[in-house]
Amino acid sequence: MRNICVVGTGYVGLTTGVCFSDLGNNVTCVEINPEKLELLRSGKAPIYEPGLEELQERNMRSGRLRFTDDYTLALAEADFIFITVGTPMGDDGAADLSQVKSAARSIGKHLKRRAIIIDKSTVPVGTGDMVTSIISEHAGPDTSFAVVSNPEFLREGSALSDFFKPDRIVLGAMDHAAAEEVSSLHEPLNAPVIITTYAPPR
Ligand SMILES: NC(=O)c1ccc[n+]([C@@H]2O[C@H](COP(=O)([O-])OP(=O)(O)OC[C@H]3O[C@@H](n4cnc5c(N)ncnc54)[C@H](O)[C@@H]3O)[C@@H](O)[C@H]2O)c1
Repeated sequence: MRNICVVGTGYVGLTTGVCFSDLGNNVTCVEINPEKLELLRSGKAPIYEPGLEELQERNMRSGRLRFTDDYTLALAEADFIFITVGTPMGDDGAADLSQVKSAARSIGKHLKRRAIIIDKSTVPVGTGDMVTSIISEHAGPDTSFAVVSNPEFLREGSALSDFFKPDRIVLGAMDHAAAEEVSSLHEPLNAPVIITTYAPPR
């Protein structure tokens, strides 16, 4: 059983949080939208995805899944922190990374113990370094962390089966040991894991 925090509960974040809790992990999801948070806390899913709400309710009842807007609480025991916020297309056609930057700032400010931050949002090359430098800027000098990139391939409408039966898990990291730790989190899925770097080796 691992302690996991998921930042952002859209399609990707809610599916990730619910499914990892169903695998027996202890999961706290952080959501800043108050209406969405209220709905989630009442055991309802803000999106329709076959089977998701039932799984959400079951894992909330078992005490393995909770929702909060409090980063201090959410990060207090987290070993793994997934960033699953939105990256909508901006006016120039590029991904708008403002939610990712804001999430990284909040993680940096509240990180008090070693954790692996996993970026699941769809982002351009170079974001791993950007997230690393934002967290370093805000975390205390003694806070140790690693950043791993884990692109998400789930399809709306089959999100649960895409999570539980993935073709492969792709991990990018400059710290190979951190990628191995994230890989071990996915062991119950029995999927091939491809580990690479997220930038040319330094
Ligand atoms: N939806 C899909 O089918 C799909 C599939 C593959 C990849 N993706 C990618 O995954 C990412 C997430 O997609 P989505 O559809 O789940 O997004 P979404 O916009 O539906 O959800 C994002 C959630 O994050 C919350 N949020 C934003 N900033 C936050 C912060 N600082 N702290 C806490 N919560 C915050 C928002 O309130 C929202 O609930 C995007 O990069 C998207 O491109 C999506």
